[in-house]
Amino acid sequence: MACIPFSRPTLLGCEAEQVVAVLQAGELSGGRATAACERLLNIECGVSAALLTCSASAALEMSALLLALRPGDEVILPSFQFPSAANAILRCGAVPVFVDIDPRTMNIDPQAAAAAVTPRTRALSIMHYSGVACDMQPLLALCADRGLDLLEDAAQALGASWRGKPLGSFGRAACLSFHATKNLTMGEGGALLLRETADLPLAEQLRDKGTDQAAFRRGEKTFYQWQRQGISAVPSGLAAACLLPQLEQLAAITAARRALWQRYDAALAPLYAAGLLGGPYVPPDAFHNAHIYFIKTADAAERSKLAAYLAARGIGSASHFQPLHSAPAGRRYGRFHGEDRYTTRESERLLRLPLYHGMPPQAVEQTAATISAFYGRKGV
Ligand SMILES: Cc1ncc(COP(=O)(O)O)c(C=O)c1O
Repeated sequence: MACIPFSRPTLLGCEAEQVVAVLQAGELSGGRATAACERLLNIECGVSAALLTCSASAALEMSALLLALRPGDEVILPSFQFPSAANAILRCGAVPVFVDIDPRTMNIDPQAAAAAVTPRTRALSIMHYSGVACDMQPLLALCADRGLDLLEDAAQALGASWRGKPLGSFGRAACLSFHATKNLTMGEGGALLLRETADLPLAEQLRDKGTDQAAFRRGEKTFYQWQRQGISAVPSGLAAACLLPQLEQLAAITAARRALWQRYDAALAPLYAAGLLGGPYVPPDAFHNAHIYFIKTADAAERSKLAAYLAARGIGSASHFQPLHSAPAGRRYGRFHGEDRYTTRESERLLRLPLYHGMPPQAVEQTAATISAFYGRKGV
């Protein structure tokens, strides 16, 4: 039986050629590859502007600075989230207020979010887990009713949509990730997406150490100056060159992942029907990008046993986020509003299965058969 790694970076084989072209052109920072990626993202995500960054974490930080969050402001976010979303809030001295999730999608529970709003709430920071859209209608209504800015973490969600509208296009600002574990990759990298063109000049300065270098490079200024607090988030042109051919083939890459995802769903259906395992749920309004295929065991102990059983048979698997509110930094800097009905319990049950670009379809059946054997079922 072949070993099946949990993940492998997406590589199409043509990236090296693009990287060499960028080296030869000497466009190691910015340059044509970066501009081409930004143009494609702009169109793909249906936003006013896309800025390539050195990570999604940097884009999240830029979002918090863009909103000019201040000490004492509160931002509501799901506790089942990556630390960078909370770090961005803390960078401005604002308070992360964690809330519970919908156990079916692992996304923020709109009712829990609404209940957490106070006069100090400035923004709602949502995340589309595994590339499956949040329940957008109540979340958009909440932001409109209470005058909150929406920040969208679409790090896992490029190529996914809600009612046909791309994820990443709903928030005033959104982030994407091109980390080596994501559907498309430039090694380390990300993007900031902007709904309003009016936010672009400020976002450019935030990406470039708080200076107006971008305007200077376009010839709009005779010299550049330090204008505000900013970070250093311009990505390498070499990394952009790696991403470009993948962006050009986004639809095909997503379709291939979705085929593997659907194969998992079919192969594991008997275990779901027998109530032995839980599986992913995709709401009818959501078109997902198959970023993750997860299952849910009865509890944490069963998950450990299953992961060890798979590992002993050469199959990788992985748990995911530890709830932020119970992590050491979460306890120190934030608070949880309402009841933790699902966050801890569901995160302890969740196990991600191997899924990567170029994974042989038989790997799905092998993994599903091994899981079936663990539960004492004959294979698929
Ligand atoms: C939901 C989410 N947000 C943010 C990030 C941070 O991405 P990056 O590594 O590009 O900073 C990740 C990375 O795994 C993520 O899954």
